[in-house]
Amino acid sequence: MNYHIVTYGCQMNLHESEKIAGILREKGFESESSLEDADIIVFNTCCIRENAENHAFGNIGALKKLKAKKKSLLIAVGGCMAQEEGKAELIRKRFPFVDIVFGTHNLPSLGDLIDQKRVRRRAVVQIAEARECVEDGVTPVRTSYPNAWVNIMYGCNNFCTYCIVPYVRGREKSRKAQDIISEVAALLQEGYKEITLLGQNVNSYNSDGQGGMSFPELLDAVASLDGKFRLRFMTSHPKDFTEEVAVVMARHKKISPHLHLPVQSGNNRILSLMNRRYTREKYLAEIEMLKKHLPDCEVTTDLIVGFPTETESEFEDTLRLVEEVGFSSAFTFVYSPRTGTKAASMEGQIPEEVQKSRIIRLVDLVNRKTREKSAEYVGRTVEILCEDYDEKKGYYLGRDAYGRMGYFQSEKNRIGEFITLKITKANGISLYGEAQD
Ligand code: SAH
Ligand code: SF4
Ligand code: F3S
Repeated sequence: MNYHIVTYGCQMNLHESEKIAGILREKGFESESSLEDADIIVFNTCCIRENAENHAFGNIGALKKLKAKKKSLLIAVGGCMAQEEGKAELIRKRFPFVDIVFGTHNLPSLGDLIDQKRVRRRAVVQIAEARECVEDGVTPVRTSYPNAWVNIMYGCNNFCTYCIVPYVRGREKSRKAQDIISEVAALLQEGYKEITLLGQNVNSYNSDGQGGMSFPELLDAVASLDGKFRLRFMTSHPKDFTEEVAVVMARHKKISPHLHLPVQSGNNRILSLMNRRYTREKYLAEIEMLKKHLPDCEVTTDLIVGFPTETESEFEDTLRLVEEVGFSSAFTFVYSPRTGTKAASMEGQIPEEVQKSRIIRLVDLVNRKTREKSAEYVGRTVEILCEDYDEKKGYYLGRDAYGRMGYFQSEKNRIGEFITLKITKANGISLYGEAQD
């Protein structure tokens, strides 16, 4: 029996799809296959922006024919969109052929839900209010070697006014530091070379007192484990980023000198309306502090344009901030109203044409900055961790410590190795080079 998982959204979801695969393996689904050959298809959905939802709806709808042809096929829909208020009913109504709908907090029960569905005709729907237990007891089938994702906490307490995450992921719950450290130690034993610690706001790790230590202490402990590996973490919230974290980052070569620090906007009035609880000045001061400890550090960010009431000059503050900070890259988004969030019912929603013109200008600027940074790499050597082979291009690829993609050619398989590349060409965010050994 085969399975196929379709994932939308962030790293958190990618890792949860690995957990879903773990559950399916335990239930006797032996291997991953194409959509057509699968005996169970699981959609792990995202609802961060409207287009993420539309994507999922389109793809689920497209399965109607397949299901009609193959009655035994099981279709399950889980993840953030399934957890959203009213969405489970909507999914059931629009897609009566869906067999199982499960919320973000119900992932560990997926195996039981499959059993239930096998003995009844009607769809099985389970959406819990909150996460029951921090440890989910699931062994993931990891698909991202040489990188391994490790959750350090779940949920979010911040309620940024545009964001749906706190509603679909619940309040912050931290895993015990000892459990995290043991998991990482075991992954290193298995040969993983890069560990990414995951949380919506890693700097508030242990806010519930359940972790047993603070985030900088945890980072220090994980980075002190033996072996050659790279340690990354995401995401940091500027309101909680502290000097202690910067000090730990500077202390350990194993911690990538890269910080993903979403700023969202460069204007204080908009930041306040977003409930981000920092100012442009505080953000800039944090970057300066970080550079003092780690002069080589690069910063990436997330930006939103067209938040309700954002004026032209407030948008330009964001452009100016991008110029000033010199992010090595940035994810840029058009504000998307999410039902149930505070911003969705604010007056002064920005018309689509205005949003479009703003995002085009912002993307142009961000791309120019990224190209400039990448061009500086030509002639330098960088160390990348080889993670894949691109058959179409005929290149191996991997990332440097900053997350920049490097491509090279090789006669033998280099996946999982640290490679020193002499960079010969830069193309947008990608670097091309020659392996030095
Ligand atoms: N916890 C992380 C990010 C979570 S979502 C943090 O706080 O930084 C990832 C990004 O999606 C956010 O940083 C934000 O830029 C964007 N985003 C979230 N809600 C959005 C919305 N309603 N419209 C547009 N972009 C949104
Ligand atoms: Fe959303 Fe803000 Fe929480 Fe990030 S910190 S997940 S943007 S509410
Ligand atoms: Fe991630 Fe999307 Fe959920 S960004 S936490 S999968 S809403």
